[in-house]
Amino acid sequence: MIRRLLLYLSTKPALGRHLERFTFTKRVVRRFVAGETVGEALEVIGELERRGLLTAVTYLGENVTTPKEAQAATETYLYLLDEIHRRGLACVPSVKLTHLGLDLGTGLCVENLERLLDLARAHGNRVWVDMEDSAYTDRTLALYRDLRGRYDNVACVIQAYLYRSAADLEDLIGRAATVRLCKGAYREPPRLAFPGKAQVDASYERLMTRLLSREVIAAGVYPALATHDERLIERGIARAREQGIPAERFEFQMLYGIRPDLHRSLPGRGVRLRVLVSFGEDWYRFFVRRLAERPANLLFFLRHLVR
Ligand code: FDA
Repeated sequence: MIRRLLLYLSTKPALGRHLERFTFTKRVVRRFVAGETVGEALEVIGELERRGLLTAVTYLGENVTTPKEAQAATETYLYLLDEIHRRGLACVPSVKLTHLGLDLGTGLCVENLERLLDLARAHGNRVWVDMEDSAYTDRTLALYRDLRGRYDNVACVIQAYLYRSAADLEDLIGRAATVRLCKGAYREPPRLAFPGKAQVDASYERLMTRLLSREVIAAGVYPALATHDERLIERGIARAREQGIPAERFEFQMLYGIRPDLHRSLPGRGVRLRVLVSFGEDWYRFFVRRLAERPANLLFFLRHLVR
């Protein structure tokens, strides 16, 4: 119930403007968000890479309502791509299509994304297209399929909580996709998504097992297993070993600030781990989703609020 309430509150950005007034909010948010500026994000990314981690970066924002905002987001990502290249970082931008203007029209969004993909290709980099709530699944996958024909550096995401994902994954396997598997972070109705955590975890394991199969890797698929779930991570490592999949043919992914103990231990075991760093002023929705994922985070936040 708490998770559902928080996911509902994550759609009310006005609340974020109230919380912003408290200095402790900034401190708590900083656990998950690298800062507000590109410079702050690049500093954190550089530090993570010096510790042997791969990285990804998200400029926070979604559902922009004017072409100007979509343009500004695109320009920020273009600048990031140049800076990543100039600094010799192994950092991949991870973008939300609604930040690039999807709500304003597919044409505008594609135009912006193509600018990112062209520059990323010139720099030997790629662009990861995040998956948003189910209202966008069809459009995101259609856009991915269209771009995949022209760009070998576009990557996508599948959410294990959606019933449809097993079928979508098979289509992506046929396209030799670079695909991130995550559990899914939005509030979805039971007619579209598994309602219970155990069911979502089981779905994740089924899809991960499929991705980490000898024939799927041989078909050119690159799996990125985004989870902090230690049990699933261990199962993934064991499965890859059993299938004889080399360490450089797949990776795990985690969010900055979550399970930093694993950020230290996994690379030491020869496992590729990419940490996604988020930054920007539009931290509210991202932050509340992180609270929803773990009640202990909410208690920590409320304790500070009461104090
Ligand atoms: P789960 O929620 O079961 O947590 C397992 C364990 O991880 C917990 O017991 C706890 O130890 C730790 N943990 C998890 N969340 C925590 C938190 N907030 N604070 C502290 N500890 C926490 N979603 C989506 O819908 N579209 C997308 O494009 C993406 N992209 C994406 C990229 C990357 C790199 C990651 C890691 C995640 C995403 N997600 C996402 C989010 C994802 O769908 C999911 O909501 C979170 O990863 C939490 O699920 P876990 O798999 O970690 O498992």
